[in-house]
Amino acid sequence: MNISVIGSGYVGLVIGACLAKLGNTITLVDTDKDRVAAINNNVAYLYEVELDEILKQVHIEARTDYRGVTDSDIILICVDTPSDETGSISLKSIIEAAEQLAEEMEGKENYYVVVVKSTVTPGTTEEVVIPILEKSGGKIGVDFGVCMSPEFLSEGKAVQDFMHPARVIFGEYDKKSGDTLSNLYHNFNAPILRTNLRTAEMIKLASNAFLSTKISFINEIGNLCKQLGIDTYEVAKGMGFDERIGSKFLNAGIGFGGSCLPKDLKALITSSEQIGYKPRILQEVLDFNDKQALRLIELLKRHIALKGANIGLLGLSFKPGTNDMRDSSAIKIAQALFQEGAIVKAYDPLAAENFKRLFPQIEYTSKEDILNCDAILIITEWEEFNNLDYKGKIVIDGRRILKAKEARIYEGICW
Ligand code: UGA
Repeated sequence: MNISVIGSGYVGLVIGACLAKLGNTITLVDTDKDRVAAINNNVAYLYEVELDEILKQVHIEARTDYRGVTDSDIILICVDTPSDETGSISLKSIIEAAEQLAEEMEGKENYYVVVVKSTVTPGTTEEVVIPILEKSGGKIGVDFGVCMSPEFLSEGKAVQDFMHPARVIFGEYDKKSGDTLSNLYHNFNAPILRTNLRTAEMIKLASNAFLSTKISFINEIGNLCKQLGIDTYEVAKGMGFDERIGSKFLNAGIGFGGSCLPKDLKALITSSEQIGYKPRILQEVLDFNDKQALRLIELLKRHIALKGANIGLLGLSFKPGTNDMRDSSAIKIAQALFQEGAIVKAYDPLAAENFKRLFPQIEYTSKEDILNCDAILIITEWEEFNNLDYKGKIVIDGRRILKAKEARIYEGICW
């Protein structure tokens, strides 16, 4: 099929590359000239497993203007929807994209479907996106269709998640819109659920809120287990055999970060409050998560005075397999260490450069050098941290690196 993808951020680029690999003709539109140039040179400007290889195999036309996008069968809106200062989702990019698209849609006669893939709160597609598209003079349901189809890509395995989805959700304005979008997925072996637009928007937010809840839940059990001398990971293993509970997302530690779980949870809370509903469970999941990482500092203080001490951070990204440090627990931990007067050194195989922009005062060094610090905090569970020699060291572990247990003093955050 002929597909246009608006926004070549993380989601747009991965989807565009994967759809091109599956034989579709892809046009990517992005306002950022550097990104567009990189994509036209078949280079991934961001790190994601397998992405670089795919971009070398396929042809994608990237451009900074919207010319011709309405010649496509399907137009995917994949622009960023970050949190604003109130915790709501900022619609700035999606409004701009819809406005530019509406201009391009004027006077077009072929039928196409506009699909919102960006994460938005329930009602956004109906109340914000569709009215802007209708400014083109085209009539929804006649001249063009609309779907909201959320994406469930995890950083570090986004290509696999796209190619082998656990489910595909089509929120559809009408049957014709959904039928057109389903042509794109006819080779996928995944359950497809067709809903209305706002249900699809909620499925995305509720899924991320549930994953966040699972993590805060096991972290609470973990904090309790630690006090009782019980190994949380054995508890989680025992719980996980029950299919109703499941074994995934029960790794206790310093809490969830990244560009999605905290943002989407805040968005769901804020949008609930806007309609007069106070979501107590969701608020607690968020508040609990905000404090969890700082437990690492409390544990550290039991073993060492922080003022003037050299503290080494192993890992900075919000999870392994990515250079993304947005909302990483490492940020809160570094801030707290500076407040306590510690000297901070850090190592991360991928995220050090990104972290340096926020914390230029940290000394970025090798993992071996980190071992020479007065104490070491493990922030991200990079596999390579299982190959270090921790003997004789003080280690406070936020991620369960088993090898670190050989340290002279070892404490796990929840075990
Ligand atoms: C998350 C969701 O998992 C994806 O399904 C979703 O599509 C994506 O957000 C999105 O909305 O775009 P991602 O942000 O890549 O994906 O990261 P996760 O793998 O969910 O991890 C998030 C955080 O939870 C990390 O900091 C990780 O360390 C933490 N985590 C995860 C735990 O602390 N314990 C666990 O058991 C699992």
